[in-house]
Amino acid sequence: MVEYDKRLSQAIELDERYYLNTFGRRVPFCPDHGDGIWLYGTDGKRYMDMIGGIAVNVVGHARPELTQAICRQAGNVIHCSNYYYNEPQSQLAEKLSQSFGGGRVFICNSGAEANEGAIKLARGYFHKQSKPRTKIVSALMSFHGRTLAAATVTGQPKYSQPFAPLPEGFVHIPYNDCDALRQAVTDDTCAVMLELIQGESGVRPATAEFAKLAAELCERTGARLIIDEIQTGMGRTGHFYAYEGYGIKPDIVTLAKGLAGGVPVGALIANEETAKGFAPGDHGSTFGGNPLACAASLAVLSVYENESLVRKAGQLGRYTNEKLRHLADKTGKINEVRGQGLMIGIELKSDKAVDIKHKMFDMGFLVGSVGANIIRLLPPLIIEQEQIDLFMEKFEQAVAEVL
Ligand SMILES: Cc1ncc(COP(=O)(O)O)c(C=O)c1O
Repeated sequence: MVEYDKRLSQAIELDERYYLNTFGRRVPFCPDHGDGIWLYGTDGKRYMDMIGGIAVNVVGHARPELTQAICRQAGNVIHCSNYYYNEPQSQLAEKLSQSFGGGRVFICNSGAEANEGAIKLARGYFHKQSKPRTKIVSALMSFHGRTLAAATVTGQPKYSQPFAPLPEGFVHIPYNDCDALRQAVTDDTCAVMLELIQGESGVRPATAEFAKLAAELCERTGARLIIDEIQTGMGRTGHFYAYEGYGIKPDIVTLAKGLAGGVPVGALIANEETAKGFAPGDHGSTFGGNPLACAASLAVLSVYENESLVRKAGQLGRYTNEKLRHLADKTGKINEVRGQGLMIGIELKSDKAVDIKHKMFDMGFLVGSVGANIIRLLPPLIIEQEQIDLFMEKFEQAVAEVL
């Protein structure tokens, strides 16, 4: 039996006694505080955070600008109802609209909620024209969130079937299957909803052909194209939105995760035409877009501007990818290195992703694993090349020792 420090032992005990058992046994680590790319456990041990709260801690931990913005806003006003105007909310709406090349913004609290809003908006758009369309086409193995409609649009029945009856009108096709997409999208399709890199199912990118076809079919049939950039957005792929790299433009984009660097914020952004789908009273959220969350997000976006984090994510992503491919050639133990920018999946030839994860943990590195054979990296975008070099040195050691 491994002995844990007192605080960690207590956290485990309370979690096992009182928390709903939605996560099973977790990695035996409880962060006490962080600093940039580093997290320090309750035992004082330092870990390099290569998973970044699953693509959330984009500006690292305890980033002074973010901490100060949160404290400043908390000292003024944390919350105000939607009865009133809200300065940080309107400023964030302007910034997000500009990031999308114009259009309207709704701010909520999570990714699932952003996708729920997008689904409602697409249906509302056709309803308002008295030509209702309900069918939403999405991909198998996708992940769009845990609320009922978001779980149903997610193309993995394990997330929705146990909670049936489910909302109707959702159709799933195999990812990157152009023929299936052509057959599924017809004149009565309301929307096509896609991730351009499927994150949760193992970092699987859409082919250029599939993404372009989705845009073309939506254009032809009038269906709304919804791109879920909850994981791929916020510059992670080296573009602020992954769709920029595909040369397509959705009608609605959804964001969350890194949008406020860890403060819970989600958003949907729609072009002016699609935004007609909501009239006053159609949608809302008590906490969504509250001053605290929006001030945090504005601080994150200003760090992005000052430090060119999107460009940096592209450069360092290419660097990491090259190093990993070199390791794959050298060792013969890695099947494939996938992803874009700092969204990286490493498919091992053997089913030992969890063993590698544990080995890296023992060496002081936090990484993710998907299924039996995929290691996932989603580090903060403020990571430096020397830190990647350090990670690579230890990862190579783990591969040599475990595989
Ligand atoms: C692509 C994508 N969409 C939606 C979600 C759901 O976001 P949230 O957990 O904030 O509801 C996730 C979360 O992993 C995601 O990766």
